[in-house]
Amino acid sequence: MKKTLLVLDSSARTNRSITRSLTARLTERWRGRWQSAEVIHRDLGRNPPQAISEAWIGAAFGKPVEGPSPLAESDELIDELFRADAIAIGVPMYNFGMPAALKAYLDQIVRVGRTFDFRAEAENPYLPLIPSKPVVAVASMGAGGFEPGGEMANLNFLEPHLATVLGFVGLDRFSVVRAQYEEFKDERWRLSVAAAEMAVDAWVDGLEV
Ligand SMILES: Cc1cc2nc3c(=O)[nH]c(=O)nc-3n(C[C@H](O)[C@H](O)[C@H](O)COP(=O)(O)O)c2cc1C
Repeated sequence: MKKTLLVLDSSARTNRSITRSLTARLTERWRGRWQSAEVIHRDLGRNPPQAISEAWIGAAFGKPVEGPSPLAESDELIDELFRADAIAIGVPMYNFGMPAALKAYLDQIVRVGRTFDFRAEAENPYLPLIPSKPVVAVASMGAGGFEPGGEMANLNFLEPHLATVLGFVGLDRFSVVRAQYEEFKDERWRLSVAAAEMAVDAWVDGLEV
């Protein structure tokens, strides 16, 4: 059976991007592990998804549509999420959170009736609809100390936000690989990138999909 990896790159940089080099490494490792590997690559940095619109919201909540569906892009992105056996997300920290292109992606894929549902009577009214599968966020930060317990951890709005939204639609097997100190280009940065490279390899090698 084909093993399908969905790779999302969200760095606006196409040159010297740490997250892109780490997702490229991860992709290569994936192809090396399974002969029948399939990789779906979405370059959100180069081609950001549309911001959701009034027409999108209307259609998503059942308003009849005339002409082309405002949900066509959303449908395509959601189909890929269901098809994937695992997901890798390259994500730089921009202004303490995720890039707008990745947020636009999340807004496209969180859809009532497709990726989550409501249960009015239940204690927890939300029902995730995507089957659980491994997801890794491959993050890079200019500064350091964003890891749990680190001195900048309280300013890390990227990881909790991403983990929360993905968990909401069922993608609750979430882990993070972090390369930090990119702005300093010092020993801390080199060590952090080397550790991230090892962690990316270990993530692929340890998967049971
Ligand atoms: C617009 C912008 C905003 C950034 N904001 C932050 C930030 O809030 N905190 C931080 O530690 N680094 C910040 N950085 C540094 C990036 O996180 C860092 O350069 C990272 O390596 C970018 O990922 P990339 O190498 O894949 O492009 C920012 C960089 C840019 C371009």
